[in-house]
Amino acid sequence: MASRFGRDELKARLRAASPAVLPSLLASDFAHLEQEIKRVEQAGVTALHLDVMDGHFVPNISFGIPIVEAVRRVTDLPLDVHLMIARPDEYAERFRKAGADSITIHVEAARDPRPVLDRIRSLGALAGLALNPPTPLPAIEASLPLCDIVLVMSVMPGFGGQHFEQVALEKLQALRDRSDCDALLEVDGGVNAETAGACAEAGAELLVAGTAVFSHDDYATAIEEIRFAAVGKKLSIKADRN
Ligand code: DX5
Ligand code: ZN
Repeated sequence: MASRFGRDELKARLRAASPAVLPSLLASDFAHLEQEIKRVEQAGVTALHLDVMDGHFVPNISFGIPIVEAVRRVTDLPLDVHLMIARPDEYAERFRKAGADSITIHVEAARDPRPVLDRIRSLGALAGLALNPPTPLPAIEASLPLCDIVLVMSVMPGFGGQHFEQVALEKLQALRDRSDCDALLEVDGGVNAETAGACAEAGAELLVAGTAVFSHDDYATAIEEIRFAAVGKKLSIKADRN
């Protein structure tokens, strides 16, 4: 399926939905992937988050190109593909062809992320750059002008179900306060109804949630609880500023 959105349109759509909860399919039941996707679609989500792990960049293997293609066939939702892989430059085009609408690579995996981000943009996808909890913001400084998304990891990548690391909040705040950064701010790892408020308050616009959504009996309720926690904080910040 060809992508339905241009880059600018998709970015505006994601921003308009902020704070948006993006379910991470990593925590879904792969034996019933289509039903799982329909259930979060019915909950009204704006996009899906797909975690690709290669067993090299992270000590775990999840899924790759054929699963992204399969997901593309059963949904029109934008696919936010998070590449936790070594050599992302060699694979970006194939993930785009498979149906990715945004492709996020890790700064720790690329000697210079800029040509890869540029390539992702030229393929028509939003270009994202992720950084792990121990990686300081200056590591992405030179690449910021090429980022449509900055993904601030709040766990070490590789596994769902980990505890949220507070260091992510400082990075989100610092990025939010920069007038020269127009990238969408995304947070990933340990996001739930308890941590979402702090994330939104710190400036996160896209909240990735795996376990908190798929371990709940009712996905719509789980998503609503996370979003409610985030919206409250976002509105209170706005009110404080007025
Ligand atoms: C971590 C992945 C996350 C993960 C989030 O390596 O990038 O997207 O699936 O899962 P939870 O929400 O369970 O921390
Ligand atoms: Zn992820």
